[in-house]
Amino acid sequence: MSVQISPSILSADFTNLAAELARVGNADWVHVDVMDNHFVPNLTLGLPVVEQLVKVSPRPVDCHLMIADPDRWAPGYAEAGAASVTFHVEAAHAPVRLARQLRAQGARAGMGLKPATPVEPYADLLAEIDMLLLMTVEPGFGGQPFLEVVLPKIRRARELIRSSGAQVWLQVDGGVSESTIERAAEAGADVFVAGSAVYGVEDAAAAVETLRAMAERACCR
Ligand code: DX5
Ligand code: ZN
Repeated sequence: MSVQISPSILSADFTNLAAELARVGNADWVHVDVMDNHFVPNLTLGLPVVEQLVKVSPRPVDCHLMIADPDRWAPGYAEAGAASVTFHVEAAHAPVRLARQLRAQGARAGMGLKPATPVEPYADLLAEIDMLLLMTVEPGFGGQPFLEVVLPKIRRARELIRSSGAQVWLQVDGGVSESTIERAAEAGADVFVAGSAVYGVEDAAAAVETLRAMAERACCR
C-alpha cells in the first residue's frame, strides 16, 4: 500500500490555475472538485475548464464530481482526459454501469461516500471500482474541520477492501492536514486529498512532502 497525495485546487487561486498546478508538480495527482449547486450547495467549475486543466496539469487529474446525475455527466470527464473520475454513490442511478463505463473509457473509476453514508451496502461493488472515496467533511466547501466520526468507517472500509481481494485505493477528502493525516493513514486510507493544507501555505510543494512523509510513517505502524 503506497501513500499518494492529491492536492485540491479548490483552495488555489482560480485566476491563475496553470501556475497553481505547477506548484504541486511533486504530488501524485491534482484533485479537481466539480460542484453543480444541486448535489452540494456550491458551484465551482465544469467540463470546459477540466478539458483545459488536463492539458496543462503536470500531474494526472483526479476529478471529484459532486454533481447530480453523474450517470449522464461523468463519462464526459473521462473523455476529457481525467485519469480518475469519482462519482457519488448517493447521486448515481446505476453505479455499477457507470463504473464499468468509466473503466471502459480508460479512466480509473472512483466511488464517493458522504460522511453519513455507510460503506457496508457497497461491499459487493468493490470489484467494480479502482478507488473508494470517504468524505471526511460534508462535501461542498474547503477549509472545514476533519470529521473524526468517519475514522471507524475508514477502518471498516479498509477491512472490506482487504477481504475482497480487490485492488482498491482508499481516498479521504476533507480537513486533511498535518494534524489529521496520521489518524486517517493509521485507519487505512492511502490516498489523501488536501486543499487548504497545501494551497493555504506559501510552499505548497513542501506541504505535499510533509503530508506524504507523515502518512507513510503512520500507515505502516
Ligand atoms: C470538499 C472538497 C474537497 C476540498 C477539501 O467538498 O471535496 O476536495 O477541497 O478542502 P480541505 O482540504 O481544505 O478540507
Ligand atoms: Zn474533493
